[in-house]
Amino acid sequence: MKNIAVFASGSGTNFEAIAQACADGRLDARVALMVCDKPGAPVIARAERFGIESFVFSPKEWPSKAAFESEIVRLLRERNVELVCLAGYMRIVGEVLLEAYRDRILNIHPSLLPAFKGAHAVEQAVAYGVKVYGITVHWVNADLDGGRIIAQKAFEYDGSDPEEVHRIGQKIEHQIYIDTIERVL
Ligand code: GAR
Repeated sequence: MKNIAVFASGSGTNFEAIAQACADGRLDARVALMVCDKPGAPVIARAERFGIESFVFSPKEWPSKAAFESEIVRLLRERNVELVCLAGYMRIVGEVLLEAYRDRILNIHPSLLPAFKGAHAVEQAVAYGVKVYGITVHWVNADLDGGRIIAQKAFEYDGSDPEEVHRIGQKIEHQIYIDTIERVL
């Protein structure tokens, strides 16, 4: 069984889906650490409910990205984490973490990359008026939402409500992320 870490900044529904799949044995992995850069984010309570250890930090309390990433790498290595899964971690990964976990960091993004990169992908896609939306799982490199794509799933939506797109997309996210983590492991 491999140790994985999940990084999140907000609600944590992807975190919970992954943790539940590990608990059920659908994923042959253990979430050894949840990393969160937003004290007070709902994902923290989700981790507590699963009995999963968290590292919660406030970036502004650290001298630099290299400093907090060095501490994260130390914690990951101490727990023999082999794969990092970004799940709504709204922060660009820096050199320290990329170097330490090269080709071992996944991200899930709510668009059909390379369309609509960044933090507001769904809102931008709705504003653009696209009719086919999607979810992408990709390797993380130094470019924002730019690494090699592993899996994508599209869905049609002909409306103007970003919340509805999020709702449809998140169900797909939870499944595609678990399937992809299993494949990658
Ligand atoms: C997810 O929809 C994920 O695709 C998105 O954040 C959401 C987190 O939801 N990530 C990005 O936009 C990355 N650029 P969750 O906290 O409920 O898992």
